[in-house]
Amino acid sequence: MGERSKILIIGGTGSIGKFVLEASAKSGHPTFALFRESTVSDPVKSKIVKGFKNSGVAILIGDLNDHESLVKAIKQVDVVISTVGLFQVADQVKIIAAIKEAGNVKRFLPSEFGNDVDGASGVEPANFAFETKARIRRAVEAQGIPYTYVTSNYFAGHSLSTLIQPGATAPPRDKVIILGDGNVKAVFNDEHDIGTYTIKAVDDPRTLNKILYIKPPNNIYSFNDLVSLWEKKIGKTLEKEYVSEEQILKQIAEAPNHISKLLLSLNHSIFVKGVFTNYEIDPTFGVEASELYPEVEYKTVEEYLHQFV
Ligand SMILES: NC(=O)c1ccc[n+]([C@@H]2O[C@H](COP(=O)([O-])OP(=O)(O)OC[C@H]3O[C@@H](n4cnc5c(N)ncnc54)[C@H](OP(=O)(O)O)[C@@H]3O)[C@@H](O)[C@H]2O)c1
Repeated sequence: MGERSKILIIGGTGSIGKFVLEASAKSGHPTFALFRESTVSDPVKSKIVKGFKNSGVAILIGDLNDHESLVKAIKQVDVVISTVGLFQVADQVKIIAAIKEAGNVKRFLPSEFGNDVDGASGVEPANFAFETKARIRRAVEAQGIPYTYVTSNYFAGHSLSTLIQPGATAPPRDKVIILGDGNVKAVFNDEHDIGTYTIKAVDDPRTLNKILYIKPPNNIYSFNDLVSLWEKKIGKTLEKEYVSEEQILKQIAEAPNHISKLLLSLNHSIFVKGVFTNYEIDPTFGVEASELYPEVEYKTVEEYLHQFV
């Protein structure tokens, strides 16, 4: 193992970016974070930035839409990780252009952190989101930029913390709504572990030009299995309401805004179409994180749910 790569993270205040940035700072990689001027001067976000600065992260000011700032930041590092939000995914062509101009990047991890988007099937608007990420993959490959695509599956904080109950702030105690027939398997990962695995992959030749699937065996559950586990933990049987695919599609059509449609359609692809588990990992382009890094004691679904009992 040579010297640890210098890592730049773009999107470090985001829901997954925070964890990737924290993991990078803790790992001993020289870590740089690019934040917008407006973020650094924001009363709430500036506290996050200050926390990272105190943990040794070099803070750079820039913007996806400011080419010079991107090139200047990228020239200082070896690896670029983008954790920009879903609505900025298409704008990552600007990061690709800056990486090309800088000419020094050993690895780029574009903002993925969901399902394997190649060949994933769903309904709109989820399909458009998958296609946009896939287009970024093709742009990275066309430019010959070395890459790793991190397929992290469902963030636990976005799923297990409420058992995917709309509007809830904790897992349910009386009644649970189950999407589809409840038998389709999904994968749920703690965000800290997603950060840890992502950073482990950056210097690993086994993940070069590969998809890193974060699919640890103890975190694969169907909706029904998840509910059974929760019922066992709280010692109570919940009333169950199943939402058929037909009803989900109707909810998507009638949802009041784009965000609601997007969330419903993503859950449709997860719990009806099975995008997290309906494939085998092809070793010619895919590797599984818990197999590559058995030393990581990842948080299991069972351990994660325990905090809510
Ligand atoms: N698997 C799952 O359960 C799951 C759930 C959610 C998201 N995801 C995926 O995870 C990825 C990240 O999404 P997220 O929800 O974590 O993102 P997010 O919370 O929306 O954060 C987006 C980040 O991008 C930064 N950003 C936005 N515009 C920028 C610009 N013009 N220049 C520089 N930085 C900019 C934001 O900075 P500011 O602080 O300046 O706004 C913020 O740090 C996406 O690919 C998304 O699809 C997966």
